[in-house]
Amino acid sequence: MKVRKAVIPVAGLGTRFLPATKAIPKEMLTIVDRPTIQYIVEEAVASGIEQVIFVTSAGKSAIENHFDYDFQLDCVLKEKKKIALGEELNNISNLIDLISVRQKKPLGLGHAIWTARHVVGDEPFMVMLGDDLVLSKTPCAKQMLDLFDEVQESIVAVQRVPENQTFQYGIVEGEAIERERTHRVKRMIEKPAPGTTDSDMAIIGRYILMPEIFDLLEKTTPGHGGEIQLTDALQALGKKREMYAYEFNGTRFDAGDKMGYLKAILAYGMIHHKLGAELKAHIKELAANL
Ligand code: UTP
Repeated sequence: MKVRKAVIPVAGLGTRFLPATKAIPKEMLTIVDRPTIQYIVEEAVASGIEQVIFVTSAGKSAIENHFDYDFQLDCVLKEKKKIALGEELNNISNLIDLISVRQKKPLGLGHAIWTARHVVGDEPFMVMLGDDLVLSKTPCAKQMLDLFDEVQESIVAVQRVPENQTFQYGIVEGEAIERERTHRVKRMIEKPAPGTTDSDMAIIGRYILMPEIFDLLEKTTPGHGGEIQLTDALQALGKKREMYAYEFNGTRFDAGDKMGYLKAILAYGMIHHKLGAELKAHIKELAANL
């Protein structure tokens, strides 16, 4: 089996980032020179994904527009002889085959993924959260697809978090297997109360899922926060089939959170081929003077 499609849910309300996200989707906030969502779509493309399915909601049309061809703008840029800029914009609209489905109510991440069931069909698929960035040499999605080629089962990307932060994540309990960075999943718990798990492996926003997840999501009742939780359906899937947790190589940023967003801007700015050197020098100067 091959993974060809990536579902990118972008229908969340973004309440952690208000008031910035009142009129602008959090996925459209800029990291250095492009919106967060563009990095994620570019990661999908660089990993060999053939089709992206956005799960959107009211007020998120800026995301679809960003990846659309803008005839008027293209003409204006041509008239003004801004050829390179026009080409850059056209490249964005030609990045990948894009489809949108609408989540009518923000009933949770699990519900958002279930909304894409008809477009995904009966094949394994990738899920990439629209506000989760991973900076890495090999794209995180590609690292997971390489593992999928070997195991042909569902995979969740995980990172180690301090014990006092486990309550903020879906946590995986597992056993290491011989392959580097890979664990067989034993149990998953959504936002565990302190002291209820010894594991520090937190699920982040990259998954490869078998299509059986859709039936399980349909049967999942609202869990933590009154939302249909993906972790609850994953727990059920893990009882039926093997599932793996993969400690990806790279640094993850939760760009839907104010601090995560600031850290992402710094990191992506510091590695930027044109802006990086000056930014690093400026940060040093600021640190010495503030
Ligand atoms: P978050 O947990 O970041 O939730 O969702 P949120 O509602 O977007 O933001 P906050 O917590 O209120 O600040 C994780 C991912 O799942 C999507 C979000 O768009 C984000 O990519 N999501 C979440 C949906 O698509 N639909 C939902 O009902 C909930």
